[in-house]
Amino acid sequence: MELHRTHDTGSVAESGDVPVVELKNVRRTFDGGRIEALRGINLAIHRNEFVAISGPSGCGKSTLLNLMGVLDEPDAGEVLFGGRRLDGISARTRFRSREVGFIFQAFHLLPTLTALENVQIPMFEMPWSCRERVNRARQLLEEVGLASRLNHLPSELSGGERQRVAAARSLANEPKLILADEPTGNLDSGSSTQLMELLTTLHARKNLTLIVVTHDPAWSGRAGCVVRMRDGQIVGDIFREPAP
Ligand SMILES: Nc1ncnc2c1ncn2[C@@H]1O[C@H](COP(=O)(O)OP(=O)(O)OP(=O)(O)O)[C@@H](O)[C@H]1O
Ligand SMILES: [Mg+2]
Repeated sequence: MELHRTHDTGSVAESGDVPVVELKNVRRTFDGGRIEALRGINLAIHRNEFVAISGPSGCGKSTLLNLMGVLDEPDAGEVLFGGRRLDGISARTRFRSREVGFIFQAFHLLPTLTALENVQIPMFEMPWSCRERVNRARQLLEEVGLASRLNHLPSELSGGERQRVAAARSLANEPKLILADEPTGNLDSGSSTQLMELLTTLHARKNLTLIVVTHDPAWSGRAGCVVRMRDGQIVGDIFREPAP
């Protein structure tokens, strides 16, 4: 079954449910206004949704994801988190480090740290002891199937394993929102499928809101909603029952 949902209101959720993240008529330009990366985006994403964002290169997907991850700010319009604006550097930093987990195409692991150490990096924001950090990092790496790779450096891991370390790191502070920008872009098809399965399972098991920017149509079949972009605008979104 496929249902269209309006991206103006994000109206699939029950009424009264405040979106995890909502963009209202958001614009973002670069180069003094000459590049219009986002041209009036209206989008609401609700708790526990799994949303894929697709569209041609340069259409504004990463710019949109950066706004949703509080890595960037719009020129115009509003970005609301749980119905609130995040004003001020400390509110923004706190939200970004505690409420959001990021996974990037190029993994972004620190090369001189082991898998166990890389997963602990975001945890320094939290009031946790060293022992708690290590135990938690070990548990997360076990969850992504890397119990036997804890003390390996990124250079000693395969691409798929590196991205699984990055997935474990994204969960370090128990965020409710995971943002992934082309997480399988640098992986072969076997590792891609494995990572997709892992994120889909984590999404279901941990009640995460998962937003994945991707060129890969395989993600679209797994996501509950596919948002299609072109030239800085949303040109359609499809809500469907996620694949079992
Ligand atoms: N920091 C920046 N300075 C100038 N222009 C930028 C900047 N970031 C993005 N752009 C431009 O904004 C537009 C949207 O870029 P964005 O990275 O969001 O696209 P994308 O959809 O993620 O593309 P891709 O699929 O290739 O990653 C592009 O034209 C890009 O060149
Ligand atoms: Mg991009």
